[in-house]
Amino acid sequence: MYRVAAIGGDGIGPEILDEGKKVLDAAGEKYDFDIEWTDFDIGAERYLETGELVTEEELKELSGYPAIYFGSIGDDRVKPGILEKGILLKMRFSFDEYVNLRPIRLLHGIQTPLAGKGPEDIDFVVVRENTEDFYVGIGSRFRQSEKKELEVVRDLYSVKFGLDVESDAEEIAYQIGVLSREGCRRVMEYAFDLAERRQRRVASVDKANVLSDVYGLWREVFSEVEGRHPGVATELTFVDAVTMWFVKNPEWFDVVVTPNMFGDIVTDLGAMIQGGLGLAPGGNINPTGTSMFEPIHGSAPKYRGLGVVNPIATIWAGALLLDHLGEHEAAEGVVQAIEGTIRDGVVTRDLGGAAKTADVGDHVAALLRR
Ligand code: IPM
Ligand code: MN
Repeated sequence: MYRVAAIGGDGIGPEILDEGKKVLDAAGEKYDFDIEWTDFDIGAERYLETGELVTEEELKELSGYPAIYFGSIGDDRVKPGILEKGILLKMRFSFDEYVNLRPIRLLHGIQTPLAGKGPEDIDFVVVRENTEDFYVGIGSRFRQSEKKELEVVRDLYSVKFGLDVESDAEEIAYQIGVLSREGCRRVMEYAFDLAERRQRRVASVDKANVLSDVYGLWREVFSEVEGRHPGVATELTFVDAVTMWFVKNPEWFDVVVTPNMFGDIVTDLGAMIQGGLGLAPGGNINPTGTSMFEPIHGSAPKYRGLGVVNPIATIWAGALLLDHLGEHEAAEGVVQAIEGTIRDGVVTRDLGGAAKTADVGDHVAALLRR
């Protein structure tokens, strides 16, 4: 018996999560395990009513679960950033989910926009660092004359741009990206361990040619971790070049390890080459704590309640959840049932079909039970 927390969230979140739960329950029947779901009412609706994002008590309670199954957050009525930072990032950071695992795999029967490429060419995993970099939330915005905590920044910029420190006319802002040796090490170890179970190749992504302090440390740690995994072939790439290669030569990649922000960016590109955002799952993993599984897309408020969106990204995220719980066979079974559903043509509008959200979930569940 596994206890799993479920957070539908906003927009289409609840309806896609329902399909995911349906499929995982069917997987349980087939592979002989039970999931006890506990629903948490966290999201924009409650925030608008009570001002609460995710409370300390909820964080404490959630920390007792091995896994959280998450829909999506984001709502037009709330200023951008509030829900993202107050709920999603809050949980990633609180539970120290330092690996953001994002498979980029073209399923059989799905079209990629990349000419001449097929499922055998597009099958890699992005391991995105998930608790550091520009996501640490250290920054400020202020006028030149204001006394602020980081006078140094102000003074440096005054010198650099010849700004008048006493004048109110100039305004500057800064945001700090923080990496730690241990933060780099642990995510890179995860990436290399994963590569050892796959094609034994790891590509590192950074921008050490410009942001040489943070990504200089990243590179240094990468070469140390590499030394501990002699059987794995490695490559150092710059983030701008890697976007080009994802498109031109996706078959080059097996495991790609990236700092947080570049990982955010390149996985949206990855989602497109695997057929669209409706197909891209993600796991926020703390190997010894509470992990959280979600589609990488947002809450698509304009489709809310219409029952037409694609639940595959969420169902696939459910497969990652099962894998995390140690139900490897069931996880593979779910992915195969997703491919079977695509083969049977039971697909939503984004994939050129006419199926409803629930039809897809029903079909995946039925194939699993067979
Ligand atoms: C993602 C999202 C989030 C991120 C946002 C919603 C905070 O874009 O999961 O990729 O930037 O990590
Ligand atoms: Mn993103």
